[in-house]
Amino acid sequence: MKVKLAANYGFCFGVKRAIKIAEDYKNSSTMGPLIHNQDEINRLKNDFNVGLYNGLEDVKDNDTIIIRTHGIPKNDLKNLRKQKAKVINATCPFVTTPQQIVKKMSKENYSILIFGDEHHPEVKGVASYAEDAQDVHIIMEPSELENLEFKNNKIATVAQTTKKKEKYLEIVNALILKNKEVRVFNTICDATFENQDAAREISKEVDVMVVIGGKNSSNTKQLHAICKESCDDSYLIENESEIEESWFKNKTLCGVTAGASTPDWIIQQVVNKIELIN
Ligand code: F3S
Repeated sequence: MKVKLAANYGFCFGVKRAIKIAEDYKNSSTMGPLIHNQDEINRLKNDFNVGLYNGLEDVKDNDTIIIRTHGIPKNDLKNLRKQKAKVINATCPFVTTPQQIVKKMSKENYSILIFGDEHHPEVKGVASYAEDAQDVHIIMEPSELENLEFKNNKIATVAQTTKKKEKYLEIVNALILKNKEVRVFNTICDATFENQDAAREISKEVDVMVVIGGKNSSNTKQLHAICKESCDDSYLIENESEIEESWFKNKTLCGVTAGASTPDWIIQQVVNKIELIN
């Protein structure tokens, strides 16, 4: 099987940076999974003895704790800093930006609207920076605006870094129709655009598409959805063990892309395996 890689794929700047930090701090632990990729987390554990903590109760004196790329809620960070542990912040700078915007704008009495998934750690972290927890609203669809009541007559809005800009525009349009003052911050990350644009292009020219990444990564799921728009036979896998030969029957060219948390060594293993399929 012939394989073609997307022009942009895989690790973004923020994830590369976090992994480098974890490799530099051997024997440390991360607060929550460092990135959305179990294989890479296993590699860091095996090669660098980087452990995984699920909450503050796991922290012991003299531990070194790394904050994951998606960040953690403000109070968790505050409480962590009170412990006798060394705290290394690997939050991606593109995630720190919306956190700081929310903090600043809510101090200036703006109601906060976040376009994103309320269950996603990044969004939970960003929302936690609002001064008034009752006046931060999280939505996925413009229609959800109907039921919202903002405390202030001025609104500031940010987006989860991995969201689609077209949908964000729809939300912003709907907001402006009903409110006098709306401050819009485009916090969507370019790395996501680049991988998405490249996935859109390549999925038009191949007859089967393989998307590699964590199944709980919103970024990878979005890449998969984009590929599906042009290529029905698009499959989402975490690693080479999930490849099924039947996907490639009567196909000649396989496109490959990978989510922003997928390491090159996993991509290479997938490519090698697909290339061996006749
Ligand atoms: Fe950061 Fe963007 Fe990656 S927000 S973690 S550089 S996808």
